Amino acid sequence: MKIIRTENYEEMSLKAGLLLTEKIRSNPSITLGMATGSTPKGIYQYLIKDHQDNRTTYKQVKSINLDEYIGIAPSNPNSYHYFMQKNLFEHLDIHEANTYLPNGAASNLEAECERYEKLIEDIGGVDLQILGIGQNGHIGFNEPGTSFDSRTHIINLEEDTRKANSRFFNSIDEVPKQAITMGIATILKSKEIFLLASGEAKADALARLIKDGISEDFPASALKLHQNVTIVADADALKYI
Ligand code: GLP
Repeated sequence: MKIIRTENYEEMSLKAGLLLTEKIRSNPSITLGMATGSTPKGIYQYLIKDHQDNRTTYKQVKSINLDEYIGIAPSNPNSYHYFMQKNLFEHLDIHEANTYLPNGAASNLEAECERYEKLIEDIGGVDLQILGIGQNGHIGFNEPGTSFDSRTHIINLEEDTRKANSRFFNSIDEVPKQAITMGIATILKSKEIFLLASGEAKADALARLIKDGISEDFPASALKLHQNVTIVADADALKYI
């Protein structure tokens, strides 16, 4: 794993954003794997500004998101559909038909997982996957204990994950208890991966990822099985490294 250390969140967003736009310009029909949460917001702002200033186009780009809450409609402001729309898609020239997220409001959730996994295969897989990391080492919503062989699946969210994400909701009671997430094996099929982390709250997770061994108890450690991973993280997140 290659590590790029930055001073702070702004520089992390700038460096990762720059790398990302270079990839998009050299491969205009790239398939990007997208993440939600606070961490990638700065990169999305970078992409929007670059699109406005430098006219980088997304007309042929496909985007495929990691995960979505179960039981929340796409129109709900807490859905990842809504997050992606507001924070990125509506500011770019990407075609809506080329943006994919799992449907957490599907009536048959098992079938939805299968559909999503097949969809990823059918569009030729993810060229570049953006990842954040949970404090417990989750990637996507793959909580500790998730099999490294997992494909897109339903996950029960840990209480700590629900607590961490409750900041986006009115109360923790509103945070869904389940989500659909790409599996670890799905993520590892991406050709290239950028993992982003910022802030002291991620320092323990990054120390564990970089220094410890590979274990299903710490999902992000699966990334050590991948040949092309770049960690872009700020000094606070890398404070034990
Ligand atoms: C969420 C998302 C993950 C994200 C992680 C960290 O639960 N499902 O994809 O990487 O938690 O979020 P944040 O960037 O807000 O710290």
